[in-house]
Amino acid sequence: MSFRGRRDSTEATPLLQDSLDEEQQQKLWPPNPKSRGIVWGSLTLTFLIALVLVLGFNNEFGDVVRPWLGFLPKDPLLAAQIILRDAPVIDGHIDLPFLVRSQYSNNVTAVDLASRIPGHVDIPRLIKGKVGGFFWSTYVPCPKPDGVDGDFLDASWRVRDTLEQIDVSKLLIEKYPKTFRLALTTDDIKEAINSRKIASLLGVEGGHQLGNSIAVLRQYHALGVRYVTLTHTCHNAFADSCGYLPGMIPLHGGLSALGKSLIEEMNRLGVLVDLSHTSDATTTQALRHSKAPVIWSHSSARAVHDVPRNIPDEVLRLIGTGEGQKDGVVMVNFAPFFVANPGEATVAAVADHVEHIAKIAGIAHVGLGSDFDGIEDVPIGLEDVSKYPALIAELYRRGWNKYALAGLTGANLLRVFEGAERVARLLQLAGTEPKFDVYNKRPDL
Ligand SMILES: *[C@@H]1O[C@H](CO)[C@@H](O)[C@H](O)[C@H]1NC(C)=O
Ligand SMILES: [Zn+2]
Repeated sequence: MSFRGRRDSTEATPLLQDSLDEEQQQKLWPPNPKSRGIVWGSLTLTFLIALVLVLGFNNEFGDVVRPWLGFLPKDPLLAAQIILRDAPVIDGHIDLPFLVRSQYSNNVTAVDLASRIPGHVDIPRLIKGKVGGFFWSTYVPCPKPDGVDGDFLDASWRVRDTLEQIDVSKLLIEKYPKTFRLALTTDDIKEAINSRKIASLLGVEGGHQLGNSIAVLRQYHALGVRYVTLTHTCHNAFADSCGYLPGMIPLHGGLSALGKSLIEEMNRLGVLVDLSHTSDATTTQALRHSKAPVIWSHSSARAVHDVPRNIPDEVLRLIGTGEGQKDGVVMVNFAPFFVANPGEATVAAVADHVEHIAKIAGIAHVGLGSDFDGIEDVPIGLEDVSKYPALIAELYRRGWNKYALAGLTGANLLRVFEGAERVARLLQLAGTEPKFDVYNKRPDL
């Protein structure tokens, strides 16, 4: 789907002009059938030669002419560029704010995004990669990444740190108003893309960042946050995580009662439920419990590469609009550890994840969530945000058409987000009350 409703072809100008008057035309026009035959014959021959060329006997010549005729070029990278021009990438998960925290101590003045900076993301590379939007992940680590943090009652400063992450994101978005625009709704995203800006959304990566409080969710929403990942690599008061390596021992067996209330409040506010990082039990329970469509902001397919962070086929089969299914979009993670065996993560391997999710969940349920700036190493050929065209080209080579690719790059996410906005509107119209459930281990309330 095109965001701008523009055609791939440029408008053709008439090649022939009526510059000859009637007398000249009569003189030129062959006076006898024999020369008329020669003229028609050579015209037909020219046409046939042109047809042969256009139909791609000479690929390069074909690619000059094909876009002009409304076809995509055969060269996959050229085709990817044209597709991305109208359907730029909306990435579900980019950790630039955490890079600003860890490398610059949150000093936004010191961050020069207009030039090349360390990591995977800066403005020149975003533009080269045809990025139309992304979720700025406002992430801070689990208090104890390796396991259960007791009753989650220790002051961990995670709410303070998350507010700092939101602050850094907004200041950077404001620092480059010609490039970024804060987006709170799907209309904002479309408007930003239409004015050639990068739609900038905020996501919170883990329930541990809520300090066990649904009120904190409401305030994050008020600050512009539009998704919360139910867990990071630790369990929290709301839900179980899948951890990082196999063997994570469940705590609640999925969602806690408070976690169910959290989802209901997210539905009412229009904050997307993000199921990346959650345990399979949390995932299936959340899929059932959420009234709104859900996302996986950065997750790949377990059948392609077997790690807990990837999504099993049983869960992929629960995504959709049929009986017992929920609409959703799985935005594929590029982290080599989740993509393939060591040394084997390539553009093609990432494309395998995209194709598997499209095969099992459906082509309308896959997207991109690179995890750039949140990963140590990168796939070969997908080194940073400038390289999305290589992935689009790989899928085009495999037969994906421009509609399927536009779904992948952004339209599928937009549909899911619109669905969540609709549910929120309906719940609010119905007068649904905010949730006031208190974490049962809190001594103060
Ligand atoms: C922030 O960065 C700017 C530019 O590098 C520098 O001049 C300033 O001293 C820094 N502020 C702090 C508090 O470090
Ligand atoms: Zn993550």
